[in-house]
Amino acid sequence: MLERQELYKRKAGEEITGQMYAFTDQEGVEVTLRPEMTPTLARMVLGRASSTMLPLKWFSIPQCWRFETTQRGRKREHYQWNMDIIGCKSVSAETELLFAVCEFFKSIGITSADVGIKVNSRKVMASVLDSYGITAEKFAPVCVVMDKLDKIGPDAVKEELEQTHGVSAEIASKIIACLACKTVDELQGLCGEGVDQAGIEELKRLFTLAEDYGYGDWLIFDASVVRGLAYYTGIVFEGFDRAGELRAICGGGRYDRLLSLYGSVTEVPACGFGFGDCVLVELLKDKGLMPDLPKAIEFVVAAFNDDMQGKAMKTAALIRDGGADVDMLLEPKKKVANTFDYANRVGARYIVFVAPSEWENDMVRIKDLRADYTEHDDEKQLDVKISDLGRVREILAAHQATVAAKNSMGALAV
Ligand code: HAM
Repeated sequence: MLERQELYKRKAGEEITGQMYAFTDQEGVEVTLRPEMTPTLARMVLGRASSTMLPLKWFSIPQCWRFETTQRGRKREHYQWNMDIIGCKSVSAETELLFAVCEFFKSIGITSADVGIKVNSRKVMASVLDSYGITAEKFAPVCVVMDKLDKIGPDAVKEELEQTHGVSAEIASKIIACLACKTVDELQGLCGEGVDQAGIEELKRLFTLAEDYGYGDWLIFDASVVRGLAYYTGIVFEGFDRAGELRAICGGGRYDRLLSLYGSVTEVPACGFGFGDCVLVELLKDKGLMPDLPKAIEFVVAAFNDDMQGKAMKTAALIRDGGADVDMLLEPKKKVANTFDYANRVGARYIVFVAPSEWENDMVRIKDLRADYTEHDDEKQLDVKISDLGRVREILAAHQATVAAKNSMGALAV
């Protein structure tokens, strides 16, 4: 989680470099908590260049830190799911990554009516801006400004382009007009000859492949998406909520020159995305889709007194061996009611009482706290042999089935 600061210093005026939790370590090295994962991945790939089979498909879920103004969906630390494909030039790689994003959304109940993914191409935008006299070296810093369109609005973007990057008022207006394009054809029509044809073909192919893959309805073209990180070189994309309430849900794109920046002698094509946990949680809350995750404890094991603690621990080990979740009560409670309270608080279904009277007969007593198959207290508990504890779930299930059957027969007879 600690990286050298220099890994992020790309001099394009990116927000991320000003948001680092940076400090100097005891050997005088300037380090930072990692604000993102992509440079770390690039460094890892370079370090293992000879042993890495390409294309490499890599995922990780790192914790990242950014000194941002906290707001809904943006915090100073977050977990970010990353997926990247290194070593593939073709737009098939982006298509594959976007499929993963859409499948993930679907798996948690989010549909293409809730969320869309805006797609654009930096290659195309670079050619458009080049035709307006904005050189390749100025392109990345200009993208950083254009990326703020949503946040600060067109007038402020225009002003920053003019004042910080010396763009004329006329060109700044043209750039803003381009950013408003909502189809590839519209952009082509507006910018004519200036548009990079290979970039346009890539975009069109991505949309076609996404249709073939079955998730075309999630994608829309949006020329205003350029992304705020300087290293992107081709297709870029951002997930957004269609209700327009939240910040970007996820984002990524192609970064074919990042590995060269870190010293690779040959250009290594790469693309990927980052997907944080914070906006997703807001989205799930808004849609009422936040899962109610049950507490996973099945058994609380409770010793009758301190003398029985070792035997209770043995019991816990035997039940765990059978694969069940067990919480060991660390200090025996004086009153049984307190043990019940404890078991309820941790959400356990069963209490396993380890007491001398049953232990003498090689048994432990198991109480079911959520028995819905009987109203008789004596049927809500079962003495189980110590040697059978490894298959205690099976034994309890069989007992419950027998009791339920007996009770339903009884009800019929009445
Ligand atoms: P990013 O757009 O800076 O890209 O961040 C990606 C995602 O991380 C955002 O869309 C959001 O879900 C989440 N995120 C970022 N900052 C915060 C924050 N302060 N609080 C909560 N969530 C946040 C990148 O980081 C690129 N490295 C992604 C990438 C991977 N590109 C290629 N591969």
